[in-house]
Amino acid sequence: MSEKFKRDHHCGTLTKADTGKEVALCGWVSKRRDHGGLIFIDLRDRSGICQIVIDPDAGESFKNAETIRSEYVIQVFGKVRERSAETVNPHIATGDIEVVADTLNILNSSKTPPFYIQDGIDTDENLRLKYRYLDLRRPEMQANLILRHKVTKLMRDYLDEKGFLEIETPMLCKSTPEGARDYLVPSRVNPGKFYALPQSPQIFKQLLMVAGYEKYFQIVRCFRDEDLRADRQPEFTQLDMEMSFIEMEDVLDLMEGLISYVFKGALGVDIPLPMKRISWDEAMDKYGSDKPDLRFGMELINMVDAVSGSDFKVFNAIIADGGIVKAINVKGDARIPRRELDGLVDFVAIYGAKGLAWMQIQDDGSVKSPIAKFFDEAHLARIKEKAGAEPGDLLLFVADKPAVVAQALGALRIEMAKRRNLIDPDKLCFTWVTKFPMFEYSEEEHRYVAMHHPFTAPCDEDLPFLQTDPGKVYAKAYDMVLNGIELGGGSIRIHRRDVQKAVFEAIGLSDEEAQEKFGFMMKAFEYGAPPHGGLAFGLDRMIMLMSKRSSIRDVIAFPKTQNANDLMSEAPNTVDEKQLRELHIRTVLVAKKDKETKK
Ligand code: AMO
Ligand code: AMP
Repeated sequence: MSEKFKRDHHCGTLTKADTGKEVALCGWVSKRRDHGGLIFIDLRDRSGICQIVIDPDAGESFKNAETIRSEYVIQVFGKVRERSAETVNPHIATGDIEVVADTLNILNSSKTPPFYIQDGIDTDENLRLKYRYLDLRRPEMQANLILRHKVTKLMRDYLDEKGFLEIETPMLCKSTPEGARDYLVPSRVNPGKFYALPQSPQIFKQLLMVAGYEKYFQIVRCFRDEDLRADRQPEFTQLDMEMSFIEMEDVLDLMEGLISYVFKGALGVDIPLPMKRISWDEAMDKYGSDKPDLRFGMELINMVDAVSGSDFKVFNAIIADGGIVKAINVKGDARIPRRELDGLVDFVAIYGAKGLAWMQIQDDGSVKSPIAKFFDEAHLARIKEKAGAEPGDLLLFVADKPAVVAQALGALRIEMAKRRNLIDPDKLCFTWVTKFPMFEYSEEEHRYVAMHHPFTAPCDEDLPFLQTDPGKVYAKAYDMVLNGIELGGGSIRIHRRDVQKAVFEAIGLSDEEAQEKFGFMMKAFEYGAPPHGGLAFGLDRMIMLMSKRSSIRDVIAFPKTQNANDLMSEAPNTVDEKQLRELHIRTVLVAKKDKETKK
């Protein structure tokens, strides 16, 4: 141990049992208080905070103590003493003791930080990001990163025990077909050519299966140039895995085991297994979402039968046009203010709904609603029955194309649950969503596109529809969802060339295009590709949910803002002409407006 910077204990670990011990501590001054001759210092290191007391007898050291301010770096030698009953601090772990210092050395001074280094501060996030190294000193941020470390350690232990190998894959790649935009890196030695940073190691992990590694995993950085939100960063981390000679059940079982091992090990929480499983169709039908939050009910109810044959032209026209009518029952909310109801109309409009209808079930069971007049008693009775409506309930209806109803009513379901406090923040509701449609139709491109990626295997019974009716084909794909957030997703892959060809054809990819994009992969698959499949978890999202934060920025040491900027280092930045010349690049900024008018 260094003599100069000697320390033999950590601040946050001292307890009554250490009473009488001589200790050497190093850390940052969290607070200093002068108390009639005595000086009290809250000394902080990674492990926590401990109170130091120093009196004028300490001579030179006392003089040092008089000059220190917040965030000075100091070293203290002293003796642990039990605090008297009236000075015990129950709010900190070391509140029973204090260290009486005989020596205090100043190792470094500090400017006054731009915000308090303490938990629960109400500081603009941009300022926190600009001084991230100070923000990261705060105990709650340290706890998040410590949790992150624990979780990745547990993941490695679990997968190692199950026979998985951690193998690195390239960061400079050919573009992968994951759907988001690529980050590109120019090649100096190949003028005019670019690498793409990986959106995921998808192709490489499948090639590792072809190569016979059987069980692979990697805790790996992925890059996607997409619009950012609270749960999306341009660079993020996946726990990525793939295995051979397995079926979907094997992957789901193994991953449930991993999640329960990690939650138990890191948080001491038991996750009941097996996890719930629902099909994509059922999730969309009942919750209007492929990542349903199952911490509360309020399912979407199909009202087409109940409202059919009424005098309400709006619903009739939508149903006649192939649309649907669905409702949610907000229990006990019939007395919702009119102003709030009007606000909900604007809320669903964000999701494309052209209107919102409501029925307030009054104490005597009668229906108060602007549209009640279009429905006779028999219809109203059917509606109430279908919705399980009781006096005091509020029914909210959206009629539109199925996709719009799902989006609007799914979002409204969550919004109403939040407003009425129906969500228990301590509940963990895991579910697998399985059997995704293989393709979705892109109105923009007038063709089918793969919903996961084009290497996902179609369900065996749907293979005949690949050529005739791709919209009918379901995939062996699965997502793990926790409390309404997609934690991870994956699939069983195609390992037969004829099936791969048919899938490429279904998404309108010609042989030549397929060759150009994934020729190297298709070639590899001609040399004995085993049946295989896998999954990737979003590590940042997992830690965010485990630490009950609302943004993944809080669990990433140096995250980017919504505009993909690093406010601390000021990346991205412009570069030297010389650097660009070496890369054979000249920048010509195309005004965005031009692009938009062309559309
Ligand atoms: P997918 O694209 O679903 O699958 O990604 C897997 C998981 O990664 C997380 N994630 C993100 N987290 C933070 N910021 C982002 N921008 C971001 N994008 C995705 C999510 C998501 O569930 N190769 C496939 C996996 C496979 O098929 O095995 C893949 O990448 O939690
Ligand atoms: P209108 O006849 O368009 O004024 O609509 C009468 C009522 O039906 C109003 O309360 C509207 O909010 C509601 N409404 C209109 N369109 C829809 C729709 N697509 N879904 C649900 N309610 C609607």
